[in-house]
This record gives sequence, structure tokens and C-alpha cells, in this order.
Amino acid sequence: MKKLLVAATALSLLGMMPMVANASPESDLKAFRGFFFKRFPGVKLQDFADGIYGIDAKRKEEWTAMEEFPPYEPGIDIGKKLFAKYKVGSCFKNGGIAIKQNYPYFNSKDGTVHSLEGDVLTCLEKNGVDLKAEKITTQKGKLAAITAYMAFTSRGKKINVVVPKDKRALAAYNLGKQHFYAKRGQLNFSCADCHAYNSGRMARANLLSPALGHVSHFPVYRKQWEAGGTDALAGFGTIERRYGGCNKSIRAKPLNEGDEWKFKQHPEYVALEYFESYMSNGIAINGPGIRE
Ligand code: HEC
Repeated sequence: MKKLLVAATALSLLGMMPMVANASPESDLKAFRGFFFKRFPGVKLQDFADGIYGIDAKRKEEWTAMEEFPPYEPGIDIGKKLFAKYKVGSCFKNGGIAIKQNYPYFNSKDGTVHSLEGDVLTCLEKNGVDLKAEKITTQKGKLAAITAYMAFTSRGKKINVVVPKDKRALAAYNLGKQHFYAKRGQLNFSCADCHAYNSGRMARANLLSPALGHVSHFPVYRKQWEAGGTDALAGFGTIERRYGGCNKSIRAKPLNEGDEWKFKQHPEYVALEYFESYMSNGIAINGPGIRE
């Protein structure tokens, strides 16, 4: 933590977004937004839902072309059928329709933060679904199709993630925040290095997206994942899948690698999603999004 603070001080001297260890979520949000609004003048809050396409007019044309025949549509239909087959709606408020914007949320009964994927997995088990037999794992495939369908029903609803004044909620928020700012991997990069301080610049052949709005369009449909798979669901991935991939790209071991994490989520990634979602409050859900 001391090291982080030293880094934060150095960064604030350079006029970057400081990471203040004991700041409240509210003041973090103000600083975080302020940073991105200053860095991308003229880009509106909702434009940040579109990642690199929201900050670059030329790239936006590619996105518009991809959206003309959305490759995620067959997958949403499959997700909708699975949602009905496994009676997912029975476990959620409003029958599971248009609720994604409230996730992740802090559950005061068990003192933990729940992601939508986590709650769907719990629901399936409660409904007697044999995850192994049905080949339902975290991060992709059927689960991602179900939550992609749920995200689709939330389109247009503004992200509304709450960090209540409860020590356990704040601890989860701070764990996610720390993950976002901490350097890791052989390349010694933090999420903030790429998605804040270098957002809008190129990393090899890739334009780097701003972290503001990162969560709005997940699960996402990626051309790259689609190309690596064989069925209609191959392109889908949850935000956890993305986090693991970004950890890997800097040669850090993804937290959710290995069989142990096939059927459950890593709490630190849920915390990271909690932090990134809180920062994105007020942005309307537009999932599933299309990405390269
Ligand atoms: C070495 C730079 C680098 C680091 C470090 C990095 N990423 Fe990424 N990330 C990328 C690139 C490149 C992409 C693809 C282009 C884009 O959308 O930014 C990406 C994409 C993403 C996306 C998808 C954006 C979208 O619009 O769909 C998310 C979410 C994300 N990263 C989160 C993270 C988080 C959280 C961390 C820290 C654990 C992290 N990344 C660390 C390079 C990085």
C-alpha cells in the first residue's frame, strides 16, 4: 500500500488521476470522471459506453457497420431460451428482466458483493441444474449467453451501483480499486496505466479504451473470440473473461485460471467489476456490445 501511495503522489504531480487510498467512493468518482472528461474533451458520458469507438470517429464507423448485422443476435436468442429453460427468472426481482444495471450489488445478508453471473450460477444450482453435465462454466458459453440476454433487456437503463456505508461493502470496493491501480505482471503495468494514463493512445496495434464505461456493454461479443470458437456462442465473454485476458497480456497470471474457477467467480474480479461499475454509474447499459 505504501508503494501505491508513493506512485499516486508521483502521478498527481504529473497531473494524472491520483489514487487516494482513503478517499470515499463519491470523491473517487468525481476525480475519475474529471480525469476522463479533461482527457477527452467533447466526449459525452454516454459515449464512454462504446469504448474505443466512443473516442474515435473513424473507428466508430467500423462499429456502426458491425452493428448493421449484429453477430450477437443468434446468441441472444439462445440465451433467452436457456433463461426460460432453467427458470432463471424465478430467482430475481422483476423476473430477471431489466435488472443488470443494478449489478454488482452488496448483499447485506451475506456481507459480499454479488455479480449478475454469480447470482445466475447460484440460481441454476438452486433450480437443480447440473452445471457440469450441462457444460455451464463461468466467463463464456451458455452462462455468458444468459447474461447477454439479461443485459439486452436492460438496454437504456442507467448503471446504478451502490456502495453502502458498510465496512464490508467498502472493503470490496477498495479491493477492486486497488486491483485497478496496482502494477502487476512481468511488464509491471496497472489497469490504470493502459486504460487511464494511456487511454486514447496505441499499445502495439491497439487503441486503448478509457476505463470509464468499461462495464456498460458486457457480456461482450468479440470477433477475436468468435474466430477461436466453433458455435454461435463462441464470441461471448463476461467481463471476468476480459479481465483475465488483460492480466495475461502483461504476463500476469489471471486470477481465474484453472479448473478451480470453472464454476465459481474470483471474488477479486467481482470487486474489480464493482469498482469499475461504480465509476460508470449513470451510463446506460448497451450490452451485449461488439468488439474486435
Ligand atoms: C498493456 C495494456 C493493458 C493493460 C495493463 C490492461 N489492459 Fe485492458 N485492454 C487492453 C487492450 C489493448 C484492450 C482492447 C482495446 C480496448 O478496448 O481498450 C483492452 C480491453 C479491455 C476491456 C474491454 C473494453 C471494451 O470496450 O470492451 C476491459 C473491460 C479492460 N481492458 C479492462 C482492463 C482491466 C480491469 C485491467 C487491469 C486488470 C486491464 N484492462 C489491463 C490493454 C490493457
